[in-house]
Order: sequence, then structure tokens, then C-alpha cells
Amino acid sequence: MRERFGWEDTAISKQYVEVINGDIETENYYCKHFYHDPFLFSLLPALDGKNVIELGAGNLYLAKKIKEQNPSLGQYFATDLANMLVFANTTEAGVTPVAARAEELPAADKKFDVVIASLLLQWIADKKAVFSESYRVLAQDGVLVLSVVHPDIYRSGNYVERDEQVFFEQTADTSVERVFDVMLSDVIGPVTYFGTPVDSYVRLLSEVGFKEVELFAPTVSNPEIAKLHLGLRKHVHRPLFLFITAKK
Ligand SMILES: C[S@@+](CC[C@H](N)C(=O)[O-])C[C@H]1O[C@@H](n2cnc3c(N)ncnc32)[C@H](O)[C@@H]1O
Repeated sequence: MRERFGWEDTAISKQYVEVINGDIETENYYCKHFYHDPFLFSLLPALDGKNVIELGAGNLYLAKKIKEQNPSLGQYFATDLANMLVFANTTEAGVTPVAARAEELPAADKKFDVVIASLLLQWIADKKAVFSESYRVLAQDGVLVLSVVHPDIYRSGNYVERDEQVFFEQTADTSVERVFDVMLSDVIGPVTYFGTPVDSYVRLLSEVGFKEVELFAPTVSNPEIAKLHLGLRKHVHRPLFLFITAKK
């Protein structure tokens, strides 16, 4: 397979920002705003006076929300590949944008209390490098909070609709390491996805030293939220996201 890491293409990244974090009401948009983000926020520790580094921060969209909700947090470093920050066209008081690959963070050891990586890791080949860097920059007892597209979502199968319910019918078990192109949406197009089974996430985190690794795979449990969009109804039974927290 050819090597292609879609996010380094500015056009792809820009589409992501406009389609998912913008105001265009796609399936991805609904899943992000009404399902992913509230759960991610529920996992964050108290942030008053804490220093935070976010990996793959995109257009500072989460950074802004987190700053709004936690006006007295300490420093907030928002890191991403350079191209995202170039067109972000935005600055946020108290947020320091830093162009950096998550595999190699330009930050001193033990500088942060919290590392956040929202929907980043499924696009990264060398996850261990990201975990090892996260561990290095965390202070003792610091926490890592991450989310990924659930590794099981790309097992082969189809969504089928029956009586207004949406079911996923799985036709093959492919819960192994694999690299493949996925259509992120018909607007964004294909990007390279590094499928890593749930167990491997846990193993890699433990290998670099993290403890108290916890996994969460929430479904859309609120019927009012499920009503908002078919994309949300798909995940009443089958989780779209995997969230992981771990402690140094
Ligand atoms: C799916 S977007 C998630 C953006 C944001 N965190 C959110 O939750 O909306 C993935 C982001 O990761 C960034 N990214 C991809 N590979 C990266 C890498 N190796 N190091 C740092 N950022 C990366 C992309 O530029 C993009 O902003």
C-alpha cells in the first residue's frame, strides 16, 4: 500500500475543520458535538491551575471549549502538525499553539498535569512514541485522556435499518493490527487509518509506564439525542468511540 498520511495535506485538514467542527450538520458533526465531546469532557479531571497539553488540537476547537469551561486552568499548549495551525486563523487567550508532531513533543519533562489526545491516535502509525512522549511530559500522577474511533468499528459489516432501528451486521472479525484507507466522509475523502486493537492500546500504555488504564466505550444512551440524527441512532448499540484514561 502506498504511504499516505492524509492529515499532512492542508486541504484534508481544512475539510475536517469545516465539516466536523464547523457548522455543517453532517453525521460526523452530530456524532462529535452530541456524543463524543460531552463524554470526553466528563473524563477530564478538575483543571483549576493545571497545565494541559493537547495533541492533534486541530483548529483549537476543543482548546476553546475547555478554556471556556475552566477559566482558571494554567497553561494550555495546543499542538498539531503545522498546517492545521497555519490556517486556524484564530488565537485564544491563554492557549499557546505549538506546531509539533505528537511523536516528538518540544516540551520539557514533567511539565504538564494533563495530556489530551482527541481523535488523533487512529491516524498514527507509531502509537508507542506518542504514549512515551505523553508519559515523559506528564508530572507524577498526571493523567492522559484520549479518544479514538473505536477499533472495532472498521470490522467488515453493514448497517441495516429495520423498523426505524439501525443495526450493524458484522460479517468478519478483523481485530488485528492493520493499515488501510478509510473514507472519513464523502467530503473529506480517504485518509490512512492505523487499526490497533483495544488490547494493544492497553499493552502499549502499560509498556511505557502508565498505570490505572481505564477503557470506556459509551453508546448513545439518551433517546432524545438519538432522535437528532440517523448517525447517532447507529450508535445506540454499537459504540463509535473508545475513550481511554491512564495515570503516570
Ligand atoms: C480527526 S482530527 C482531530 C482534531 C481535534 N483533536 C478534534 O477532536 O476535533 C486529527 C488531528 O490530528 C492531527 N494530526 C494527525 N497526525 C498527527 C501527528 N502525527 N502529530 C500531531 N498531530 C497530528 C491532524 O492534523 C488533525 O488536526
